[in-house]
Amino acid sequence: MILVTGGAGFIGSNFVLDWLASGDEPVVNLDKLTYAGNPDNLASLAGDRRHIFVHGDIVDRALVASLLEQHRPRAIVHFAAESHVDRSIHGPGDFIRTNIDGTFNLLEAARAYLSTRDVAGKASFRFLHVSTDEVFGTLSPTDPPFSETTPVAPNSPYSASKAASDHLVRAWHHTYGLPVVTGNCSNNYGPLQFPEKLIPLMIANALAGKPLPVYGDGQQVRDWLYVGDHCAALRRVLDAGRPGETYNIGGWNEKANLDVVHTLCDLLDELKPAAASYREQIAFVTDRPGHDRRYAIDARKIERELGWRPAETFDTGMRKTVQWYLDHQDWVRKVQSGEYQQWINTNYDAREGSPA
Ligand code: NAD
Ligand code: DAU
Repeated sequence: MILVTGGAGFIGSNFVLDWLASGDEPVVNLDKLTYAGNPDNLASLAGDRRHIFVHGDIVDRALVASLLEQHRPRAIVHFAAESHVDRSIHGPGDFIRTNIDGTFNLLEAARAYLSTRDVAGKASFRFLHVSTDEVFGTLSPTDPPFSETTPVAPNSPYSASKAASDHLVRAWHHTYGLPVVTGNCSNNYGPLQFPEKLIPLMIANALAGKPLPVYGDGQQVRDWLYVGDHCAALRRVLDAGRPGETYNIGGWNEKANLDVVHTLCDLLDELKPAAASYREQIAFVTDRPGHDRRYAIDARKIERELGWRPAETFDTGMRKTVQWYLDHQDWVRKVQSGEYQQWINTNYDAREGSPA
């Protein structure tokens, strides 16, 4: 059995669903159910005895210790985090607490748990830390992509908190011998992503006839990876990643934000035509403070050592994603209630150019 943290969020729930679709090893899923955690993501697992959901906080040491003692997992797959850069700018406190204190707590609980296991149990255990390419900071248009040896240089409260957690994970390996592996992944997209992030936000706003708020000049570049490919990469890292190593995970899909938004509008024009092209809803708004200009991932190490490459292209992944949102408008409507509207007002009302 494995212990997953944050398995009710976007990537975590995709991971749990994929995991149980491709094998029978049970999952204990520890999630605090913040605004980003959604039990509906896991509704298809209702009554499935292989999925044990625990509503709780990774910062709660006694809870984590008792889950490890009770279920004796062979691995921890650690997704739980505050994950949205704009929220970290408006309120960094939760990012420090969950991303740093929470990771510290899990590492300490794992260390105590492993001290009770025999030599074989210790050697086969893995702590898989799910991290981000944002820890490396920003690239110029001509810089080579981030590799595993690129120095970390985080620029937002979110990326600083993730970099701090990466450092803790590294140190717990070097000092205490904890068998850790870290994945630093680029921007994910796909089903079940909360519509505060670029792609689901643009789809939701487009369908609602609202402006599509592009920050600054829209020429910031991200590397995009379909979430199912990230989940497959993490399974490979868990199976065969070398303890103490980090693996960069990416889609070989560098795109400027404005091009991503154009692609979404064109797909919607085809799949759900409106009176005018959705491109007409694009609105340029005040940029994100400290906005990183470009991320790009050199994913050759994971391909060379673990044989992983993304299966989806940007075209196939985006088409699947747009179709999923069109088919799951109820899911979108449900997560857009309450706190969501408050966040939209906080983030967009004060931006020049925003007609919100
Ligand atoms: P998300 O915000 O959709 O989900 C986070 C989940 O963690 C939610 O279910 C939330 O309830 C839970 N959580 C938050 N605080 C918690 C706490 N204190 N205790 C227990 N659970 C808590 O995030 P995501 O986009 O699915 O990202 C998952 C992980 O992957 C994060 O660590 C993130 O840094 C990393 N990552 C994300 C991306 C991306 O593009 N989304 C890319 C690379 C890495
Ligand atoms: O690179 C990996 C990271 O990708 C993850 O670690 C983060 O958890 C995840 O949120 C994501 O961070 P980004 O800041 O890149 O993602 P976001 O979807 O917020 O924004 C993508 C780009 O789009 C970014 O350059 C900002 C821009 N943007 C975003 C929003 C929400 C806009 O132009 N308008 C918007 O309304």
